[in-house]
Amino acid sequence: MAIISRAAKFAARTAHLRASTIREMLKVTQQPEVISFGGGLPAPELFPTGAIARATQRVMERYGAAALQYSVTEGIPEMRTWVAERLGRRSGCAFDAATVTIVNGSQQGLDLLGKVFLDPGDHVVLEDPAYLGAIQAFDAYQSRYLTVDTDDEGLIPDSLERVLERADPFPKFLYVVPNFSNPTGRTLSRGRREKVVRICEHFGLPIIEDDPYGELRFEGEDLPSLITYDTSAPVMYLGTGSKIMAPGMRIAWLVIPDAEIREKVVLAKQGADLHSGTLTQYIFSEYASDGHSFDAHVARIARTYAARQGVMSDALAEAMPADVAFTRPKGGMFLWVTVPGIDTTELLRISAEMKVVFVPGVNFYPHRNVHDGMRLNFSNATEKNIRVGVERLGHAIKMYGG
Ligand SMILES: Cc1ncc(COP(=O)(O)O)c(C=O)c1O
Repeated sequence: MAIISRAAKFAARTAHLRASTIREMLKVTQQPEVISFGGGLPAPELFPTGAIARATQRVMERYGAAALQYSVTEGIPEMRTWVAERLGRRSGCAFDAATVTIVNGSQQGLDLLGKVFLDPGDHVVLEDPAYLGAIQAFDAYQSRYLTVDTDDEGLIPDSLERVLERADPFPKFLYVVPNFSNPTGRTLSRGRREKVVRICEHFGLPIIEDDPYGELRFEGEDLPSLITYDTSAPVMYLGTGSKIMAPGMRIAWLVIPDAEIREKVVLAKQGADLHSGTLTQYIFSEYASDGHSFDAHVARIARTYAARQGVMSDALAEAMPADVAFTRPKGGMFLWVTVPGIDTTELLRISAEMKVVFVPGVNFYPHRNVHDGMRLNFSNATEKNIRVGVERLGHAIKMYGG
């Protein structure tokens, strides 16, 4: 009798799945004495627990069983309308609620777009470095990556153009995080937004615009969303409640003006989970529909993160050797540190012993070829812990050389 190995039972696509260093690390950082700049967690003390409890009560009184019943795949109308109105108000452009699909976290949106667009071996265009969760989502569809160079203004349009001119096979889409990106905290400048959209239009390349951090701006003016440009290149916009309400609710939204793409996404979602949780959608829209207190809540988060970013930047300026560079984002939850000549995966081993952790930058490079970066999260640590953690990091860097 032939013996079939365990591995042979699995689909070929599972060979492409990479473990998330971040999730693995989160397990280690449960110890209270470890200061973690590793995860991408919002500040839990800012979750509006009382208001959500009251909203839940109101939902049960007002909707009762309907809030506990199966619902439509696209999402409940209240939620879709809220998304269209909020996006419209923030951008000054009108959005139709019919273009909105509520998804189970923007992570599901990425998975569904992968499912709809990617055959094995297809190319995806990514910023270098890019959001690890997107790489993981697309990996499951056995995609390959074309990478575009980035600098302080985000992805470099000339680099995108060169990549597209040479691409064979031609990629299925560009995935980009234009505001306060994960991992670098950088923002795509206004001038470059226009250029990126025009290049994609010229080449007929769809764009996935992933925007979890746009509302968490602490300084300066909002820049136009790629989805607001008048262009023939299809733009699929992803927003989420994870960073402005609570990630545990798993409420996010895909806005896809192109009806053909939207229908395919809805069918893919039907196969995946029928629909996102009815109850959480009702609670979310009930809480968020009081625009005034919701805005005040988001402003409070942004103020808190602004202060933490400031403390982290000042501490880095003090503790790091002169050749270390870091971003000073005007929003979001992360900053990016470049430590020339240091392999940050090795550095993590040293720093973990000193009880401070971060995510080594190599994990965000699709080709895993750059080793001197690190992502620091500033939203999930107190100002005191940020100071202590950065000081420990400074010691770890000194130890690395010695
Ligand atoms: C760029 C980016 N996209 C998507 C996500 C996933 O967010 P969600 O909680 O909505 O699934 C994150 C979470 O950190 C992120 O940083």
